[in-house]
Amino acid sequence: MPSVFITGASRGLGLEFARQYSAEGWSVVAACRRPSDVPQLEEWGVEAVAVDVTDFAAVAVLARRLAGRAFDLLLNNAGVYGQDQEFGSIDGEDWQRVMRTNVIAPLKVAEAFLPHVLAGRRRVMAFLSSRMGSVTENDSGGSYIYRSSKAALNAAVRSLAVDLRPQGVTAILLHPGWVRTDMGGHAAPLEVEASVAGLRGVIDAAGPADSGTFRDYTGATVPW
Ligand SMILES: NC(=O)c1ccc[n+]([C@@H]2O[C@H](COP(=O)([O-])OP(=O)(O)OC[C@H]3O[C@@H](n4cnc5c(N)ncnc54)[C@H](OP(=O)(O)O)[C@@H]3O)[C@@H](O)[C@H]2O)c1
Repeated sequence: MPSVFITGASRGLGLEFARQYSAEGWSVVAACRRPSDVPQLEEWGVEAVAVDVTDFAAVAVLARRLAGRAFDLLLNNAGVYGQDQEFGSIDGEDWQRVMRTNVIAPLKVAEAFLPHVLAGRRRVMAFLSSRMGSVTENDSGGSYIYRSSKAALNAAVRSLAVDLRPQGVTAILLHPGWVRTDMGGHAAPLEVEASVAGLRGVIDAAGPADSGTFRDYTGATVPW
């Protein structure tokens, strides 16, 4: 049975990943800040673990607690959008919080859980980025905090893809589409079910040749 470790599994895309992978018969470990708030996970037979990904010491402790477990897929999904980020009223403190959550935390999770990924058969690390992090596609401006965090995540994961290639790890960046979640909002055109189904297909098809690429939920390449 394949296995996956998912961050930010309390709601939105992360919760839907947990639902779909468990329905497909995968062994799912769902990491969220307060698992007791997410009773669905237990109903689906998903193992819920508590961690705030910005608490790097806690991430390391969790990785040690799960030592010896193999994860075919490490899914770095947890993310935040940020508060005031239009030019003239940028919240500098919040920018630091978002960078810690969206950039540093996924890399610290990757460091802590590398042994578990190496013990898996697939050796895939997937990172939820965003088309908003594409420098090429930014012709509408604004959203300084969120855009820069995802652009930085893209840069970091490109390095990771190069560094872990000798160990057979495939590291990919994903754009889920504009999805109706707390972050995406009510106007978003895409439901979580369709986005996650598409992303699972992209992840499933990803091999070493795809490491370091940036794909949307249909498999199309997103420009940097
Ligand atoms: N929705 C979209 O249209 C869209 C588009 C492009 C990219 N994305 C990306 O896709 C990912 C998931 O987005 P979403 O739409 O599902 O967002 P969401 O509905 O706002 O959910 C975000 C998830 O991340 C978790 N999280 C945030 N900070 C955390 C922390 N410090 N430690 C642990 N968990 C934390 C939240 O947990 P709590 O419940 O504890 O807050 C929640 O489970 C994000 O990386 C996002 O940037 C989304």
